[in-house]
Amino acid sequence: MPEIPATQRSLNIEYAIRDVVVPATELEAQGHSIIKLNIGDPIAYPGLPTPAHMVEAFTRALNDGRNGYSPSYGLPELRNAIAQDEKRKGWPATSDDVYVCHGVTEALQILFQATLEEGDQVLAPGPHYPPYMAYPQMYGADTIEYQLDSAGGWALDFDDIESKMNERVRLFVLINPNNPTGAVVGKDDIDRLLNILKKWPDCILVADEIYDGLDFSNRQVSAASCSDSTPVVTMNGVSKVYYAPGWRIGYMALHDPESTLTSVRDGIERILRSRLCASTPAQLGFLAGLEQDRSWMQDYSHTVKQRRDVCLERIATIEGLEVEAPEGAFYMFVRLTDAHWKDNDKEFVLQLLHEEHVLLVHGSGFSRDKGKGHVRLVFLPDIPTLHEAFDRIDSFLKRHRKM
Ligand SMILES: Cc1ncc(COP(=O)(O)O)c(C=O)c1O
Repeated sequence: MPEIPATQRSLNIEYAIRDVVVPATELEAQGHSIIKLNIGDPIAYPGLPTPAHMVEAFTRALNDGRNGYSPSYGLPELRNAIAQDEKRKGWPATSDDVYVCHGVTEALQILFQATLEEGDQVLAPGPHYPPYMAYPQMYGADTIEYQLDSAGGWALDFDDIESKMNERVRLFVLINPNNPTGAVVGKDDIDRLLNILKKWPDCILVADEIYDGLDFSNRQVSAASCSDSTPVVTMNGVSKVYYAPGWRIGYMALHDPESTLTSVRDGIERILRSRLCASTPAQLGFLAGLEQDRSWMQDYSHTVKQRRDVCLERIATIEGLEVEAPEGAFYMFVRLTDAHWKDNDKEFVLQLLHEEHVLLVHGSGFSRDKGKGHVRLVFLPDIPTLHEAFDRIDSFLKRHRKM
């Protein structure tokens, strides 16, 4: 029988972070234990559990029979709490501006469906979180990467941005703090970016701020709070700074200072209604996170920063590795300086996995051009595990240098 074909668009999708898990799972099946520094899931590592009051609210919702559908745009009380939280970040959000989704991932797909036509462009940072490349092509659009400065803290390159803006760019993506680099963009640079975007009235700024509670620089600001003309769609949720990625709850919030988003809003709402709603009990868990004391978040952030500092200290002493210190999130994008690995980051990851049982993600999985010669490392494991991982990486590099 002939094979039934899949669409080319689906076959184009790559997600490096999970693709490298396949050989790791095979090794585990053979009885090896792997140190996993590949996945941005805080629950996969010790010491960073979902806060108990959020878990209680989620289970209480289940026991109270809150197991039905919710309104399509989200529970009103959650939309209101999110709006209050965004207001606290500096822009006049209302409940009506907030749409609750199954994670930022679903919010992005809905935004792309509502804004992108064949031939449109999305400008996203290079390197970037892979769905920004994978999803727009599903709607016939192209993702073009703008340059981040690899030797200058992965800062925005404004000349490159200006040269790539044109009337087909419908969405400009800012990930702040960034995955995979951990870089933070401060207010001055956001203002400078908005000055460029002002010239392109058909372009929406997508501000992915899912790591905003993990900012070691204190420079992170809400992009919506800086904009008085460009429309901004802020993305956030429970996955990272509320330590509950398996709940699959996130949101988009529309800041529309010049009322240019009426039609986009209508499109978004139609899509939201057609996909019913996000999980009701999980929304109530998030609500507890927003409404109750959040001082725990600082403690968690402090723990993550300590783990970052250990990685920076170790990398400084290992020949063959260099890194721009991340200012936020829980990733670092490490440069491979040995001639042999510079052009072979995927081979580095696979050989390291097989020989030392340490799992990283190849940088070229975050951008074929701008990520190559790098690996992404998640600095969430406890400190002894991080030391063990760096001991193994160091001996791997030394051994291969002698070969
Ligand atoms: C920048 C960025 N945005 C969004 C997501 C996914 O968000 P969610 O779990 O809410 O779908 C991730 C997950 O790694 C991410 O790094």
